[in-house]
Amino acid sequence: MKHLSLLTARKQEELPASTGVLAARRAAEALLELERECGETVEPSVGEVYLVGAGPGDPDLLTIRALRLMQKADVVVYDRLVDPAILDLIRGDAERIYVGKRRSDHALPQEEISKLLARLASEGKRVLRLKGGDPFIFGRGGEEIETLAERGIPFQVCPGITAAAGCSAYSGIPLTHRDHAHACIFVTAQGKNGAVDLDWNVLLQPRQTVAIYMGLTHLGELMREFIARGADPESPAAVVDNGTRRGQRVVTGTLTTLAAKAREAGLRGPTVIIVGSVVSLRDKLNWFSPELPDTADDLDAGVRGTAAMPDIEKERVRAALQSPVPRRRARSRRGECFLA
Ligand SMILES: C[S@@+](CC[C@H](N)C(=O)[O-])C[C@H]1O[C@@H](n2cnc3c(N)ncnc32)[C@H](O)[C@@H]1O
Repeated sequence: MKHLSLLTARKQEELPASTGVLAARRAAEALLELERECGETVEPSVGEVYLVGAGPGDPDLLTIRALRLMQKADVVVYDRLVDPAILDLIRGDAERIYVGKRRSDHALPQEEISKLLARLASEGKRVLRLKGGDPFIFGRGGEEIETLAERGIPFQVCPGITAAAGCSAYSGIPLTHRDHAHACIFVTAQGKNGAVDLDWNVLLQPRQTVAIYMGLTHLGELMREFIARGADPESPAAVVDNGTRRGQRVVTGTLTTLAAKAREAGLRGPTVIIVGSVVSLRDKLNWFSPELPDTADDLDAGVRGTAAMPDIEKERVRAALQSPVPRRRARSRRGECFLA
């Protein structure tokens, strides 16, 4: 297992921790303590695996159950897309094992991950398998626990907010809306052995939103294919990059323009692509401003989603931007805020 020791994650102290994140962890620890006192927690005599969805990035989107399991676990096996602020919430003395996964660079092959979980649990450990989003949505969670089920190893599953839901909420693009879409379909552009052959008849239904995971590298091809199969080239479409995170960026356009706009913006992923007339609602419903503009002119032009900011916040930002005193950055609930 020399291979694995190299992959062991950064230590707790090295990770950034915001006040909110630490408060949440303390609350989860207190809850667990209370459960122990009330005798509600039965310490297992054999190991167990908790397959937990960590959501798309913002730690505030974790479930209370996820937080509780994060305090119980002796060892945490986690993926690339789990945000560092979420790792901050894991019990301080838990061992951390990074098992990565980029498209072409798998830190540990899938079968090895399943075997690792089984081995750790058979050593009597409480193992937290922490995955981005929801473990059962394009997350291979099912494959991992199949191995455990076959070996009779106890496990439980905790859902997380899937990327499409997080991106939808934080970009102001509802996935369904009675005036626009009665259905929403989640698809992945990436299959087990490369790009997926999508079922276009299913995708091209009227009054339906399509949310595409893992599609950024095929964006141009996907948009062209929508048009070639009969979709209106002017249909609204969006890419939500790093959804719910402080670096969230949203590019909107049409099936014709989106790929060029996304390229120009230099998006790097992870992204969810949203296709459908619901995208047009963003102008009215956008509420999340992860970044603020560089100049007062940018603010007036409404760049980076600032159009939806309340006037009072706009005035505060304008005053700070125009101040001759060097600007100091401070965090606000809505994102980065400049203070003079
Ligand atoms: C292997 S899939 C895992 C999906 C995950 N199980 C879920 O439910 O969200 C990874 C893909 O999820 C999407 N994704 C995950 N986090 C995201 C985020 N914060 N913003 C946008 N897309 C995200 C991207 O399409 C990414 O390529």
